[in-house]
Amino acid sequence: MYVCTSRPSLDKMLDEKRKQGHKIHFVPTMGALHDGHISLLKQASQKNAVVVCSIFVNPTQFNDKADLDKYPRTLEADLALIEAGSDCRIVFAPDSPNEVYDQTYQEQTLGLEGLDKVMEGAFRPGHFKGVVNVVNQLFAIVKPDVTFFGEKDFQQLAIIRLMTKKLNLDIDIVGCPIIREPNGLARSSRNERLSVKMRAEAALIHQSLQELKSNYLKYSLETCKTHFMRSFENSPLEVEYLSIVDGHTLQEISEWHETAYAQACTAVFAGEIRLIDNVQIFA
Ligand code: PAF
Repeated sequence: MYVCTSRPSLDKMLDEKRKQGHKIHFVPTMGALHDGHISLLKQASQKNAVVVCSIFVNPTQFNDKADLDKYPRTLEADLALIEAGSDCRIVFAPDSPNEVYDQTYQEQTLGLEGLDKVMEGAFRPGHFKGVVNVVNQLFAIVKPDVTFFGEKDFQQLAIIRLMTKKLNLDIDIVGCPIIREPNGLARSSRNERLSVKMRAEAALIHQSLQELKSNYLKYSLETCKTHFMRSFENSPLEVEYLSIVDGHTLQEISEWHETAYAQACTAVFAGEIRLIDNVQIFA
């Protein structure tokens, strides 16, 4: 396992791989890895590809300083998980934010066609500006041919696709299915911070999304939203938002017929832990 903590060591390693004719397949992460990340690394592992994983807790995408402070940093365990669960043998784990935000860094102020203004963007001001900038910078550092992102962060994936298009980057963006715990809860680094009871209760998020999906042909969108909110009434979970959006524009729809591609996205508090999830209603 090669753990590069600086850019020159990573550049040297990847230049050699490119010269040998390999493609670079890249999975950016913030560490605290779990099965979801391992599934991204597995999907990245393809013939003639060298898989690179970055582990960097990006301070600029946290709008809440307490959330940044509490974010788990588990490098040793992450490396062990990568080694045991995937073919990835090159990890970029910068030892300071200056390694990522060096003198080549230029802040991007891309217009994102409103994708960044809704849902997570509305509730976490500045979050996507941080994500766009770090991902663009990581792309400049790793120079990948293909990158892999989880569909749990549905909005992030849409924004990264748009960013890549707007900046004319010759990089394929692959969206990978959500990995779930046996009770349906979407895998997330934050799940580790849930009590056993809350982890069990949080299964309701996926259940309620699935119910919404199975009811959409029978009921109006408004009724489906009301059912969803009611399903949380006797639970300790608190819904921050449920947005039913057009899967391309991410703008809310108010009737099913307004789109051919509907996605339901939600953020729910389990105590102080904020969880997100989504489901495709139809496409
Ligand atoms: O999805 C994440 O873990 C992060 O937002 C990412 C893409 C690694 C950027 O810091």
